[in-house]
Amino acid sequence: MRIGWLAPLLWIGVVPGATAAEPDLALAEQTYQQHCQQCHGVNRIGAAGPALLPQSLSRIKPDEIRQVIENGRPASQMAAFGAVLEPAQIDGLTHYLQRPPAVEPTWSEDDTRRSHHLLADVATLPDKPQHHADPLNLFVVVEAGDHHVNIVDGDRFEVLARFASHFAVHGGPKFSPDGRFVYFASRDGWISLYDLHNLKLIAEVRAGLNTRNLAVSKDGRWVLVGNTLPGNLVVLDARDLSPVKTLATVGLDGQASRVSAVYTAPPRNSFIVALKDVKEVWELSTGPNPDFVPRRIEAEDYLDDFSFSPDYRQLLATSRKAQGGQVIDLDTGRVVTDIALPGMPHLGSGTYWKRDGHWVFATPNISKGLISVIDFDTWKVIKQIPTLGPGFFLRSHANSRYAWTDVFFGPDNDAIHLIDKQTLEIAHTLRPVPGKTAAHVEFTRDGRYLLVSIWDTDGALIVYDSNTLKEIKRLPMNKPSGKYNVGNKIEFAEGTSH
Ligand code: HEC
Repeated sequence: MRIGWLAPLLWIGVVPGATAAEPDLALAEQTYQQHCQQCHGVNRIGAAGPALLPQSLSRIKPDEIRQVIENGRPASQMAAFGAVLEPAQIDGLTHYLQRPPAVEPTWSEDDTRRSHHLLADVATLPDKPQHHADPLNLFVVVEAGDHHVNIVDGDRFEVLARFASHFAVHGGPKFSPDGRFVYFASRDGWISLYDLHNLKLIAEVRAGLNTRNLAVSKDGRWVLVGNTLPGNLVVLDARDLSPVKTLATVGLDGQASRVSAVYTAPPRNSFIVALKDVKEVWELSTGPNPDFVPRRIEAEDYLDDFSFSPDYRQLLATSRKAQGGQVIDLDTGRVVTDIALPGMPHLGSGTYWKRDGHWVFATPNISKGLISVIDFDTWKVIKQIPTLGPGFFLRSHANSRYAWTDVFFGPDNDAIHLIDKQTLEIAHTLRPVPGKTAAHVEFTRDGRYLLVSIWDTDGALIVYDSNTLKEIKRLPMNKPSGKYNVGNKIEFAEGTSH
């Protein structure tokens, strides 16, 4: 799924136009060196504070950058500079931070190696759960407001553990095949390994300066990290995150590319990699003794995002530049067909289910208020379901009658639609907390309950009964974003994200 979670697409490419009062960037650089560098790092690559590069800042609006510098961020080391700096200096910094640094920041294999550290020795830890919850019905919940992760018991709906994450975890944590270990990527390239049996962090490494997401191989031996800065792939040993190999993502034509997304394809025993600036899809085999040499598949367009068919034979891919989607057969390496899809479908966060004996795939759309439903046999769009606004996530479960989708963008962002999987009509619209954004649903392993996020500083995780639609419990949280059920994830269950 495209987890940049908070609508990063909307701000990508927003570089403030040169106006008459173009701020003095050299002066801004001096201000940065004097007041900011000690926390945000030489060349803005981050230190105690997050990286301040255009790639990292694309997740927030330009106005918010200015606002943070002026007023700081509560309960963090980021102080308010409104009283220290002149408004013109703050404008200058806001402008400067959205420009690439004069010297392109680098991050080498040696930098990765040096950043690696172990926090606990797995060999000395018990290999049975040291808590009383069902290890396959735990939820990992990312609390984006203050950069924490919660481990939630999926039967009692109680928080078992809560710990600080690196800045801006995103891309969806991934699990080892037995569900014991979970892997996180932060936007700044930090990868963390956490033991869910012992509720302990095991290891960390910084694999890049700006990371898109990570994937774990079917056998649980390898972690693949996809980076946008520098544009490359980093293979880590899943046992302790020690670096194994770095592959520059360069197309056959020599063009360097950022990575759009990496996912694991379990039946193929491989990683699939989508590239943003080169029209290629890469497959890296993860069988015995893998060499991590990519098999290149030529695509018709750049891939921003993709989803798999239920048998993992085909990719359903989109691009912002394309007027729709392309279907790529992974065995033949050929583009099978194009699919006309309006707006900006968010394929990575779509989901599929069976309807009248056919697999159908439904995708939200981040620029139009509609859900497109596609028949997997004919690749035809069979229904466009109008919603109250563009949505970000769509989730279901084999035991649920409904697919749940948010209306993330626009005035109705407090609404959640429940789409009947057979009639393809909206059966219910809930407003969990009127006036506050509701987003991202994940079911318990058995599909009886589901969790919805109220995306607000003063937000919550709300538990619903998936049949009666009654609220069961509410856990207060600070901007809870993604949540991931261990069992659903390791079984690659129908209805959840990859
Ligand atoms: C004492 C350390 C420190 C100093 C000095 C500092 N910052 Fe920060 N800054 C932080 C931390 C920590 C955060 C993350 C806050 C949070 O949790 O949201 C942050 C966040 C930010 C963000 C938001 C980044 C994002 O992706 O959300 C911006 C922009 C920023 N700082 C700009 C500046 C500028 C400009 C200066 C100098 C005028 C500065 N900071 C000085 C520690 C610092």
